[in-house]
Amino acid sequence: MTNFLASYSRTHYAGELRKSHVGQQVVLLGWVQGRRDLGGRIFIDLRDRSGISQVVFGPDLGSDAHTEADALRSEFCIGIVGTVKLRTDSGGQSNPNLPSGEIEVECSVLHIFSKADTPPFQIEDDVETREEVRLKYRYLDLRRPKLQKNFQLRSTLYRATRDYFHNNGFWEFETPFMVKYTPGGARNFLVPSRLNAGKFYALAESPQIFKQLFMVAGMDRYFQIVRCFRDEDLRQDRQPEFTQIDVEMSFVTEESIQTMMEGLVARIWKDTIGVELPRPFQRMPYKEAMGSYGEDKPDLRNPLKLHDITQLVKAHDGGGVPLFKSTVDSGGIVKLLRIPGEAAQKLSGTETRKLEDSVKGLGAKGLGTARLDASAATGTSAAWTQSPFAKTLSNELREAIAIEIGATPGDLLLFQFGSPKLCNTVLASLRQQMGKRLELIASGWRFLWVTDFPMFELAEGDKWVAAHHPFTSPKPEHVELLGKDNGAVLARAYDLVLNGNEIAGGSIRIHQREVQAKVFAALGLTEEDFRAKFGFLLDAFKYGPPPHGGIAFGVDRLAMLLTGAESLRDVIAFPKTQHGTDLMSDCPTEVSNKQLEDLFIRLAPRVS
Ligand code: AMO
Repeated sequence: MTNFLASYSRTHYAGELRKSHVGQQVVLLGWVQGRRDLGGRIFIDLRDRSGISQVVFGPDLGSDAHTEADALRSEFCIGIVGTVKLRTDSGGQSNPNLPSGEIEVECSVLHIFSKADTPPFQIEDDVETREEVRLKYRYLDLRRPKLQKNFQLRSTLYRATRDYFHNNGFWEFETPFMVKYTPGGARNFLVPSRLNAGKFYALAESPQIFKQLFMVAGMDRYFQIVRCFRDEDLRQDRQPEFTQIDVEMSFVTEESIQTMMEGLVARIWKDTIGVELPRPFQRMPYKEAMGSYGEDKPDLRNPLKLHDITQLVKAHDGGGVPLFKSTVDSGGIVKLLRIPGEAAQKLSGTETRKLEDSVKGLGAKGLGTARLDASAATGTSAAWTQSPFAKTLSNELREAIAIEIGATPGDLLLFQFGSPKLCNTVLASLRQQMGKRLELIASGWRFLWVTDFPMFELAEGDKWVAAHHPFTSPKPEHVELLGKDNGAVLARAYDLVLNGNEIAGGSIRIHQREVQAKVFAALGLTEEDFRAKFGFLLDAFKYGPPPHGGIAFGVDRLAMLLTGAESLRDVIAFPKTQHGTDLMSDCPTEVSNKQLEDLFIRLAPRVS
């Protein structure tokens, strides 16, 4: 057997060949995309990660090669030596859909490195194969040009990130994956310790504490491209192991971190897709985001807005609508989504009525609707039609609402009343649904810093938990509210949102021990509790910690948005399914009793 690679090395990638290469001898290495035998001439598309080139075999071009080419089948791995020719010179036609479509390579030497079984699916972008099959044969799926491009982009993203940080005085660090279990935050994966009977490590959900310790250690500017592990319920935008660009800086404010991160994002966008992003990015307090959009990661490409009319309803004592009155009397809110007249025209009465069913899935009891009479001259005088409130609603409240929301004739109003959580969830979802349905979503990249998050949120009814993490600094002016009015305490936390996706989150941290103790107390942790959990951090803070803060980006989400992929699975080489399994290697698996014994673990009988 000849050693092809000892005699030849690749001269070009197949997708790079153009008219300008005509006449050159080239060596290409790659896979057979497809083979056509046109009697006397055999054609294949040779594919590598750059694209494809047509290769032609004929007895006059290389008689051994032509004979061997007879055996070629899809996905054989081959090397060829040949000469670049214009397709039209041999009576062929250019293929305008292919970058290398004007040329073909006349093959003089063919070498088959390895044969291939018939693949379970065609290696093509628009392959209609179930995702389970593609994931089982992921190495073949990864041969598809679209996925290859995604990983090329991901690689560029890493390079841009490293360049940017190194240019800005950051040092790159590593931190342990096997860490001490600390409660709170995401659920951890646990790893049993063989050397320490009955004890467990946790897989790090993020390097949060370590990066803060680097600041205590005087490292000043830290970054890491790091894998994080979270045992969460999975969705399209969540994986159990995912990658963060993790950052921490000393002697900073929210503003200086945000500005530095805008520089990073701009660099990534430029290097990966060649887009110059305008800066600074828009900023919006959490309260405004919840008020106008019903969520803390609004997609600002969607022009639709929510309006809270609770105060108006209160001022008009319900305005004659019993449900409005009972809602506000019992501490609830009344909110509406306004769909401007022109867009609303596209929705038929039947379609509007069907919306009610769609929001019931979100826990809504119903959906109040009203159309503003299109024939009226101005919004303020427009009568409400198709509305359960139309008969009873007072003219005064109707006009007050019209002024408040800037109504115009023909508008469609969609109402929710009840708890703020329910109203916001339902209307935020409707806002997205309507934006898409009515084709209102603008193109482009809408970045938004959401700031001034609440410090705490209520879990299980009455227990305060940290909304970000317990090392996040409260606003200095709110420190005195800690433990007294936890719900009113705002944090120095910020998220970066892009087109409705949370792509990063961070905060200024607490660096004074007294404040940290107050926060732990507000969370209902005793001194003993928090010493047991975070004692080493508190000890570290005895030794001159600098003021510091940071942020982490979800790399997979960035890559998903930059590539236009629909799922994180299209930008993670070996992802897990929604059930946390790897179909290719069939993981997780059972282990032997001996292995369990070594780890001091006995399995409980399975409850079916
Ligand atoms: P946070 O928990 O907000 O912050 O995570 C930062 C970013 O990571 C991404 N992300 C995920 N991506 C894919 N799958 C997941 N399961 C997943 N979970 C989170 C999101 C998110 O914005 N230590 C803090 C950061 C800090 O304060 O500096 C942290 O981990 O894009």
